[in-house]
Amino acid sequence: MIPTPDLSHLTRKDYDLVYEPAEDTFILLDALEQDAEELKRLRPSLCLEVGPGSGCVSAFLASILGDSSLYLATDINPHACRCTIATARKNKSEVDTIHTSLTRPLSSRLRNSVDLLIFNPPYVPTESTESQEGQKHGQISGSWAGGFDGMEVTNTLLDESKTLLSANGRFYLVAIKQNNIPDISQKLSECGMTTETVLQRRAGREHLFVLRISRNSTDHE
Ligand SMILES: C[S@@+](CC[C@H](N)C(=O)[O-])C[C@H]1O[C@@H](n2cnc3c(N)ncnc32)[C@H](O)[C@@H]1O
Repeated sequence: MIPTPDLSHLTRKDYDLVYEPAEDTFILLDALEQDAEELKRLRPSLCLEVGPGSGCVSAFLASILGDSSLYLATDINPHACRCTIATARKNKSEVDTIHTSLTRPLSSRLRNSVDLLIFNPPYVPTESTESQEGQKHGQISGSWAGGFDGMEVTNTLLDESKTLLSANGRFYLVAIKQNNIPDISQKLSECGMTTETVLQRRAGREHLFVLRISRNSTDHE
C-alpha cells in the first residue's frame, strides 16, 4: 500500500481557503495506486494535474513515479498553488505550479506532450452563475461549483485533452453520476478517445467515478 502523502504542515486556516482532501481525492489516489505498475511502465516524462488543491494527489503521484517525471500543476486558487508546493516539499518531491485556469498559458507548448493528465474538478451541479463566480475569484467555491450538470469546467478540459495528451498519454478524471458518464464517453469517442471506468464507489450522497481516458490506438495524430 502506498502511503497517503504527509499533509501535517497544512492547518485549519489552509483548509478555509483550499479544498481539504475528501472521498473524491481518496478514490483518485486509489485509482492511481491500482494502476501504479502500469504507470511506471509507461515512464511518463510530463505529468500535469489541473486543480491540485492541497497538492495531495500530485505528491502521491510523485511518490509512485519518482523524480524521472516533471510535475506541473495549475490552479485558479493562488493558495492552492502555495499549498501544492509545500506539500511536494514535505513529501520530498517537487511540483511546479502555475496560477491559471486549466492549461491556459501552456496549451500550445504542451501540445501532444502530456503523458499523465489528472483532474478532480468542480463537479457539483450548480447554477451557472455560481460556477462562474467561483472560477472568476479563485476562491474555495471554485473547488466544487460545476455549473450545468456539474460539467461547465470539465467540458473545457475534455475539449482540450486530445490535443494535450501524448500518443500513450492518459487522463484520469473524477466524476459523479450526475455528470452523465455515458455522455462524457460519447463526446470523447466522437473525437477519437476511449473512456474506461477504473473505479467507482458510493460516498454519502455521491456516486463517484474515476475515468481513464486515452487516445484510440488507431487515431494518433
Ligand atoms: C475538488 S478540488 C480537488 C483538489 C485536489 N486535487 C484533491 O483531489 O483533493 C478542485 C480543485 O480544482 C481547482 N480548480 C477549479 N477550477 C479550476 C480551473 N478552471 N483551473 C484550474 N484549477 C481549477 C480548485 O481551485 C480546486 O483546487
